[in-house]
Amino acid sequence: MKQIELCARDDVEDGTILKVEVDDLELAVYHAEGAFYVTDDACTHGPGSLSEGYLDGHIIECDFHNGQFDIRDGAVVAPPCIVALKTYKVVPHDTMVVIETD
Ligand code: FES
Repeated sequence: MKQIELCARDDVEDGTILKVEVDDLELAVYHAEGAFYVTDDACTHGPGSLSEGYLDGHIIECDFHNGQFDIRDGAVVAPPCIVALKTYKVVPHDTMVVIETD
């Protein structure tokens, strides 16, 4: 288990997404309805970057072909996406967004 600091909580306003590159990962950090969520930034369907998509509640819509995922568990919500999105566990921290990876 490894913990990785991604950004300050203040860097991501509620309702917005920040792309963070760290180690070999390209991640999307979401601030949605008061909580933080982290997924891979790359859409599982194609070249879309989810940090450039549209966040509505806990649903991220890819701006490439309008596929949708639930950022809480990565589940596909709307086609053409078929493969679930990888999500990361966010660990509690006062000021930073921190994830735990294997
Ligand atoms: S690349 Fe994201 S929906 Fe196609």
